[in-house]
Parts: sequence; structure tokens; C-alpha cells
Amino acid sequence: MLERNSPGVRSSNRTRGRYEGRVAVVTGAASGIGKAIAEQLSAEGAIVVANDLNAEGLGQLQGANIHTVASDIAVPATAGQLVEAATTVGAGRIDALFNNAGISVNGPAETFAMEDWRRVMDINLDAAFRVAIAVGQVMIEQRSGAILNTASPAGMFGIPNSIAYVVSKHGLVGLTRGLAVEWGQHGIRVNAICPGLTATGMNTQLRAERPGRWSDREARTPLRRGGVPSDQAATALFLNSDEAAYTTGQVAAVDGGQHALYSGYAVAFR
Ligand code: NAI
Repeated sequence: MLERNSPGVRSSNRTRGRYEGRVAVVTGAASGIGKAIAEQLSAEGAIVVANDLNAEGLGQLQGANIHTVASDIAVPATAGQLVEAATTVGAGRIDALFNNAGISVNGPAETFAMEDWRRVMDINLDAAFRVAIAVGQVMIEQRSGAILNTASPAGMFGIPNSIAYVVSKHGLVGLTRGLAVEWGQHGIRVNAICPGLTATGMNTQLRAERPGRWSDREARTPLRRGGVPSDQAATALFLNSDEAAYTTGQVAAVDGGQHALYSGYAVAFR
């Protein structure tokens, strides 16, 4: 077994956590779920490399040992920059990757613009693959590591008006299972979360402009509430921690029970 928590990456004066001294990369870390993941990692003692397009949002992240890389994850060079940053601050290691950046472009399939399709694929799927491969090379060398992809219910089911998002998230679920199968031999685990309705930057406009639609979706959730970013971060951190050491290739719906309800029924149908 490899040594973890090498002396070069330990930090002091902090309660020991599951991630004490671990080196983690988080994409899409300036807002919503990625921000909650980055800040919780920091609170648990990780050395965090946080990426986002939004430099201002990255600058507002709270916590110790957070190093920021403000760049577009869809630009191929970004994957190498993240590995460079993480191995520099982490004495050559990368223990955990959270492939979280994502966008949605809405519109009917029959008129969906190819440029929107390309942008969604570039960010949600191609970039996740590229970063996983770049980080995976470090993990293969060290013979350990864990990768968590933020997928979506749209990675398991169809949702209307979001064809590129649906296809990209199905691809991310496939990436999760495919890499889990290939990289188990290297001691690398790969899992995904599928966040149900979660209050983040992605749906600020919906919540502000169509509160009835938001509350309707909450009412159709068995736990009767929408999720918050910390709900997602809790499961994401668990899956990338040693507590989940025998779990790989899993796609966890973190959705208040939405996936358990057949859509032909209302939650309180009698
Ligand atoms: P958010 O909009 O609050 O956060 C997404 C972050 O990704 C933003 O900070 C944004 O600047 C960043 N980002 C976008 N494009 C980028 C790029 N090219 N390079 C680097 N960073 C980029 O939204 P949220 O909800 O926190 O999204 C996180 C993930 O969760 C996404 O993959 C999304 O598809 C997924 N998700 C969210 C759900 C929800 O209800 N909020 C439901 C299902 C999945």
C-alpha cells in the first residue's frame, strides 16, 4: 500500500478529517455544488485545487488550503494546468477528482443549434473525460485515487427541452462505469452522483421567475423539499473517501427520492 498524508502536504491546527492531507481537484467550484464540495473538502483538511471560469467566485471560496485555477474547463490545456497545480501543491499526489463543471442549454431538439450542442458536450462530457485521463495518469502511477462525476437524473432518464444535456449526462454515466471497470486494477474508484433538483446558480432564474414550477417539483419529491448544495457535497465526499473503499462504478441518485417515483404518478396519488 502507498503512504498517504505525506508530510509535505499536511496542515496543522485543524480537526482531523477524512481528507486530512489529501489532494483534491474540483471543477466548477465557484458556485453551487462545486463550491460546497470545495469548502467541505477544505473543512475536512484537504488541499484543494479549485477550477472555474468565474474567477471572482473562486476568490470568494472560504477555507484553508484552497488553490484556484481560473480557466475554461473546455479548453484542452486546462486539464494539464490542473494536474500541474495539484501535483505542485500536493507533492506529486492527486487523491481525489470531482468532475463537477456543467452547463445546460434549453430548447426543443428539432431546432437545437449545433453550436449549443457542441458547447454542452465540450464542457459536460469531453472536458470531464480529458481531466479524468490527465488526473488518472497520476493516480495510476500512485496506484490509488477516486473520481466522482456530477451527472444528473438526465443521465438516467429523458427530460424535455434539454437534448444535449441529456445526452452529455448519459455519456458521463457511461464514462463513470467504463473507467471504473478499466481502472479498478489500478486501485482507482470512479462513481457518479445524480443530483435531483438542487438550489444553485443553474436554476436561480427558474426559482426567481417561476417559483410555482419550483414548488411544484418540490411537492413531487418524496422528501418534499428541493436539495441544497451541501446535500450533494455530503454524498460526493463520501464516495471519494476511504469510507467508500469498496464502491466503484455506482451512480447515486441524490434526489430526495425522485427517481424512486414512477413519473406517471403524483407523489400523493390515492
Ligand atoms: P452552478 O451553475 O451553480 O455551478 C456550475 C459551475 O460550473 C459554475 O460556477 C460555472 O461557472 C462553472 N462552469 C460552467 N462552465 C464552465 C467551464 N467551461 N469551465 C469551468 N467552469 C465552468 O450549478 P450547479 O447546479 O452547482 O452545477 C454543478 C453540476 O451539477 C453540473 O454538472 C450540473 O449539470 C449538475 N446538476 C445540477 C443540478 C441542480 O439541480 N442544480 C441537477 C443535476 C445535475
